[in-house]
Amino acid sequence: MLETRDLTIRFGGHVAVDRVSCAFAPGTLTAIVGPNGAGKTTYFNLISGQLPATEGRVLLNGEDITRLPAPLRTHRGLGRAFQLTQLFPNLTVQENVRLAVQARESGRRGLGLDLLSVWLDRKGWIDEARRILDSVRLDDKRDAHASSLPHGDQRKLEVALLMALDPKVYMFDEPTAGMSVDEVPVVLDLIRTLQRRRDRLILLVEHKMDVVRELADRIVVLHNGQLVADGEPAAVIASPVVQQAYLGVVPEDEDGLAPAPAERREPTESQRHAGRDAGAA
Ligand SMILES: Nc1ncnc2c1ncn2[C@@H]1O[C@H](COP(=O)(O)OP(=O)(O)OP(=O)(O)O)[C@@H](O)[C@H]1O
Ligand SMILES: [Mg+2]
Repeated sequence: MLETRDLTIRFGGHVAVDRVSCAFAPGTLTAIVGPNGAGKTTYFNLISGQLPATEGRVLLNGEDITRLPAPLRTHRGLGRAFQLTQLFPNLTVQENVRLAVQARESGRRGLGLDLLSVWLDRKGWIDEARRILDSVRLDDKRDAHASSLPHGDQRKLEVALLMALDPKVYMFDEPTAGMSVDEVPVVLDLIRTLQRRRDRLILLVEHKMDVVRELADRIVVLHNGQLVADGEPAAVIASPVVQQAYLGVVPEDEDGLAPAPAERREPTESQRHAGRDAGAA
């Protein structure tokens, strides 16, 4: 169980995440949606420890991890997709994944620097790395340097590394962004596979509302750093705040959140941008 309580971060005068309280249970996939700049990535950064909270708390299985550095949170089971800068660009794709498998197993079994067991286990790790690369359809690229991969393959490698670490909490921030149409289903299938393992908790930031509708058990909407809607997908998608953010429907009330009957208008430029990937929503 992962929970944030009044989680807040300020950058100067700007409150990027504003008292967000939310609890997530294992076996569920929660989609976090909202317009550009809503605070979704920042919320992830606060949970994973890439950014320090100004106020509020993050709890994982009852433990307060708010002040824990990011690597210790990873150790507790929080898994954030890697940025390419966190990879070893001069190692091959397979070696990167093998190292992630090795890190996971060493962590689980407290192997430390026992060179003999590292050597004995090496083949198992390589097999596991290959199996994971097969599942993201990167098997034909396994000997390429990570830095040489085209953008879509880099995103698949990020997902592969997360799978290799096999965290309790999977955090995906726009995992299919920049992928070609034929690559997207590969990643979505993987997320579905994870979803079937009822012990894993999945958080997914995603702009494509058709993907959200299909995968999410629950949708949380952030808007100006605040949690403005939370619930069952069909109800949240139909809510005025989502209609406004993604479809350019402008509610009559000024705060934009009132459940007033919405009047359809031409989207503004920023709304068009926010809805750029909104799919068939
Ligand atoms: N390190 C930082 N310093 C200052 N401001 C920041 C920082 N990180 C994020 N912000 C600001 O916080 C707000 C939320 O940004 P964030 O990246 O979390 O939005 P997002 O919901 O992920 O948007 P997108 O959908 O475009 O990815 C933005 O106004 C952004 O400019
Ligand atoms: Mg973002």
